[in-house]
Amino acid sequence: MTAPSAFADRLVAWQKTAGRHGLPWQGTRDPYRIWLSEIMLQQTQVTTVIPYYARFLARFPDIAALAAAPLEEVIALWAGLGYYARARNLHRCAREVVAVHAGKFPETASALAALPGIGRSTAAAIAAFAFGERAAILDGNVKRVLCRHFAIEGFPGQAAIHAALWDLAESLLPARDIAAYTQGLMDLGATLCTRSRPDCAACPLATSCIALAEGRQTELPARRPRPAIPVRRATFVLISDGARLLLERRPPSGIWGGLLVPPEGEPGAVLARLGLAAEQEPEPLAPLRHAFTHFRLTLEPVLCRVTVGTACREAGTEWVRIADIAGAGVPAPVQKLVRRLAEARA
Ligand code: ADE
Repeated sequence: MTAPSAFADRLVAWQKTAGRHGLPWQGTRDPYRIWLSEIMLQQTQVTTVIPYYARFLARFPDIAALAAAPLEEVIALWAGLGYYARARNLHRCAREVVAVHAGKFPETASALAALPGIGRSTAAAIAAFAFGERAAILDGNVKRVLCRHFAIEGFPGQAAIHAALWDLAESLLPARDIAAYTQGLMDLGATLCTRSRPDCAACPLATSCIALAEGRQTELPARRPRPAIPVRRATFVLISDGARLLLERRPPSGIWGGLLVPPEGEPGAVLARLGLAAEQEPEPLAPLRHAFTHFRLTLEPVLCRVTVGTACREAGTEWVRIADIAGAGVPAPVQKLVRRLAEARA
């Protein structure tokens, strides 16, 4: 196991020589400027943020100017950055800092985290950069770095794993150089330890990274577990006079919209609805499973034989010759059912 100090020391040394420097929000300890950058950088890339940051600061140079502005003007300057709840919270936060804290940001991560729009990780970043507080950050990029380096299994969004990652992030904090360390974690996640094709050859943590040693960089962190796909069943009534099949046209929207399919439902009820009488007892056939994008459907066919030449006057129904089914606008799984039927009866 890597000693926490070794982890932090290598990251800090790397940040100083190879990390990102000269970004517009670096080189200041003004919490207003740091806060603004951290909010803009949530879910948004550095290159996108830079021009917005400059325009925003030109119009609102300090928290008092922002708090005094109408929300509409803040939103207008935010337009294009996305996630507009950030702009509304930014404005609320500015007003709260002015009203409750006399225009001065509180100077601890825990007090910052009580303000609108400032979560635990953002609060820690502001406290580290502006006030030098030893506080841990844990955004998506940092989770990826930690999950890989320490081979943390499981989906990081799961509560127990998320809590363990926070504990781990806290345990790694260096005794000094917290700003370079925090920036180093962000830089590593954004530039080397990327989601796809990480640049492990350039990584300062490569010698102790378990994912690299085991070749598991693409597996870690684990992806969100897929929700179980619901399975539905539907009975399809194959009404046949031996050579033809009675099909109904589906409404234009929904699954198989506009296509011809056998009537769906309980066989007796279907026959009654269509004004038909079966020659024999309905005969259940082997079910067929079909996967749609959001669910699986088990088609349960039931064969109902009717007299040769039976007519059906129900609107939307069509007799289709079984031999012509392939060209009749019938969905693939239904064609498969019909082919099976034809082969079994051949
Ligand atoms: N992403 C979030 N905070 C950042 C920062 N301070 N610098 C670069 N990217 C970031």
